[in-house]
Amino acid sequence: MDSIEHEMLRHIWFPVARVSDLENGVASGSILGEELVLYGDGGSVTVAQGFCPHRGVALRLGKLREGELECPYHGWLFEAGSGRCTRIPSLAPSRSRPHAALRTYPAEIAYGLVWSCLDDPFLPLPRLPEYVNDGWRLGAGEPYTLNCGMRLLTENFRDKAHFPFVHAASMGHVDKVVEPYRVSRDGWRLGWSSSLGSEGVPEEFSHRLDYRITLPVFASICVSSPSGGRRLVAQAATPISADGLKVRQFWLAGTDASSAAQGAELTDVLAFERQVFEEDHPIVENQWPVEAPLDLHFQVHTPADRFSITYRQVYAELLESFKERR
Ligand code: FES
Ligand SMILES: [Fe+2]
Repeated sequence: MDSIEHEMLRHIWFPVARVSDLENGVASGSILGEELVLYGDGGSVTVAQGFCPHRGVALRLGKLREGELECPYHGWLFEAGSGRCTRIPSLAPSRSRPHAALRTYPAEIAYGLVWSCLDDPFLPLPRLPEYVNDGWRLGAGEPYTLNCGMRLLTENFRDKAHFPFVHAASMGHVDKVVEPYRVSRDGWRLGWSSSLGSEGVPEEFSHRLDYRITLPVFASICVSSPSGGRRLVAQAATPISADGLKVRQFWLAGTDASSAAQGAELTDVLAFERQVFEEDHPIVENQWPVEAPLDLHFQVHTPADRFSITYRQVYAELLESFKERR
């Protein structure tokens, strides 16, 4: 990635951990090679630089002590919110404390995930589709670390033509033909709809798929079953290495009230989606180039690739818009 893209991504919200990872009050994350420590009680969380300013110990090894983060090496304490050092145990109380503070970053909790951003956010925190409300049950699956670009992973999540080849074990014999579709756009959000049927099964038994993506990397699919229930799976790819070619895949799965009434268990939905993701991983970690190229001449496309073509074009526009704003 070039320096402009790197700079833009510093201004984007990315998930860095699940709220459940903060069970003991401390967790870790990273964005673009910057190691982060998260501390708090799950209700409020501080995201800060991952290494102690004293002797550089990884603060993810620290403990939460009365709401403050204690470094495991010499016990310095860092305040929630500001990251300010409030106590240096080796110093007699009569001595003045050197100024020390952790650099802190914006932090938000949404959808069971802790989100952060390395610099002032350029875009708002992405939202799930508006129909996902309190009647839904959502769960955050175990994140994966993958060697691939974040756009490549995001495109994989939106690609339907691979289902019969990559997901035969989880999805069965689905149609190979992808009917032409239109991609809708609302600001930095793209959408398209499609149906997913089994070979030889009448259309009314097909599932409807509503795809959404909020650029740069928050994608969701809502699957409406012929019996009326809805299931959602969402993904955000956080670039964790400085070159953006190593990502952490955060994902959510959920069901609406009608699915729940029909007996759909959230644990089963999470297990199914986990299987689907794990079928994709050998593919996304073995593509070249490792990131989806923005130059459309670099690869060959078909009408089924309409979404990824639009995504690459709009991503290039997003970069331009960031440059203009600087
Ligand atoms: S290294 Fe953290 S207190 Fe010394
Ligand atoms: Fe897939």
